[in-house]
Amino acid sequence: MIDRDSFRAILGRFASGITVITTHDAQGTPHGMTVSAFSSLSLDPPLVLVCVGNDATMAPVMAQATSFAVNVLADTQEALSRRFAGKFDDRFAGVGYTDGELGDPVLDDVLASMQCRIVARHPAGDHVIVVGHVERGTARDAKPLLYYRGGYAQLER
Ligand SMILES: Cc1cc2nc3c(=O)[nH]c(=O)nc-3n(C[C@H](O)[C@H](O)[C@H](O)COP(=O)(O)O)c2cc1C
Repeated sequence: MIDRDSFRAILGRFASGITVITTHDAQGTPHGMTVSAFSSLSLDPPLVLVCVGNDATMAPVMAQATSFAVNVLADTQEALSRRFAGKFDDRFAGVGYTDGELGDPVLDDVLASMQCRIVARHPAGDHVIVVGHVERGTARDAKPLLYYRGGYAQLER
């Protein structure tokens, strides 16, 4: 059996980008959380997945949601990553965004964004894998914010 610390140390060697996943509840209130467990899944149809912890405040909201947006952060947006992983009454206070066509917040100045309709949910351990069909997206030229060995990192070139 692999122990928890070894497992974390091994997983930390997998460098990733950072996303903020957003959705909205039945009242139209926006919700968001920082997620590095994002992956492309299928080109045809265009599918992506995110893994949401069962203990996250956003878990019950995602369980009811029909759509979400993926905001891929640029290297200037570390503060957004910290904000959407932290304790705030309203994580969106002071954050610039517009509601996308599916009603989910697309944050200003992100590196890329995807608006997704939820097509499947798969419980897995202490997370749920949420699969989204990408209906719209944006991409711009900038550098990504990275996460490696438990800390923020940036591309050198
Ligand atoms: C860099 C980074 C990556 C994260 N990735 C994930 C993730 O992939 N899935 C997840 O459920 N939580 C992830 N988290 C944790 C959540 O963002 C955070 O714990 C959660 O939003 C706590 O929310 P709550 O206090 O509203 O429950 C990550 C946090 C950080 C800082």
